[in-house]
Amino acid sequence: MSTEIADHYAQKLNQETIITQLKAAYPNGPTHFQLAPIDQLHIGGIKASLKLIDRIQAYSPQSVLDIGSGLGGLMRLASERLEQSITGLDITHGLNQINNQLTALSCKDTSTSLITGDAHALPFADQTFDLIIFQHSLLNMPDDVQVLKECQRILKAGGRIIMHEVLQGPQFSEMVYPVPWARKQEDSHLIQEQALLDLLKAANFSIECMDDWSQEALAWRRRQATKEANIEQQKPPVSPAMVLGPEFKQMGANVMRNLSSQAARVVEIVAQK
Ligand SMILES: C[S@@+](CC[C@H](N)C(=O)[O-])C[C@H]1O[C@@H](n2cnc3c(N)ncnc32)[C@H](O)[C@@H]1O
Repeated sequence: MSTEIADHYAQKLNQETIITQLKAAYPNGPTHFQLAPIDQLHIGGIKASLKLIDRIQAYSPQSVLDIGSGLGGLMRLASERLEQSITGLDITHGLNQINNQLTALSCKDTSTSLITGDAHALPFADQTFDLIIFQHSLLNMPDDVQVLKECQRILKAGGRIIMHEVLQGPQFSEMVYPVPWARKQEDSHLIQEQALLDLLKAANFSIECMDDWSQEALAWRRRQATKEANIEQQKPPVSPAMVLGPEFKQMGANVMRNLSSQAARVVEIVAQK
């Protein structure tokens, strides 16, 4: 399992090109918005992360873990906005290496720490964190029961999970691939809403909120498609294709199709221990 995930996210990665192009384009260091094409690898981009951070802020957590932190866009933004340290964990070591370099390049006022590890066996002591975030990462995980068991273990009493995830929609049978998180069906692990809520309850979490972000997600994806159509002329220093390869164009189009057909949905869920 882990080899496939690392292959999916790291096989097209070119660390040297990404860092060289960023340094050349932004000698004073890129902003969060300038990094967003590669470090906000979820539907909704930086706007969705800002919305998520507002939600996190409302709970005033002292210790936050971002599971499946990718290239770290949410971590850096949250650390700056919440003025606190954020821990990231990701199974793809190649992404973590670049994440650390992006932080060094870009941020003066952020504090982040990063661990390479698997959400199914979290390398943390019991009751370590107040809040755990999943932003488009549960969708890659084959054993949600084990992942939630681990979350329950490392959360402090009253701690929360916040998920910004893609779920199966009512027309799931119409799902098309590749999508940004999986090149083929076997590598995608979308779950139905009710099944996820049931698993959370079975793992002793109480559901505090369940919001559907699908319409916003679809509107965002449509705007991105227009921008991406002109990308050849714009020649931006970084683009999602630098992580996901030339197939990204098709992946983006398929996300739009899957949201339009209601094969997939985008939701935010908050659950408390
Ligand atoms: C679609 S990307 C999202 C990255 C980031 N959260 C974002 O929104 O930009 C999914 C991330 O989850 C990570 N991931 C997948 N399975 C994982 C696992 N079992 N444990 C930890 N990280 C995992 C991948 O390596 C990848 O970085």
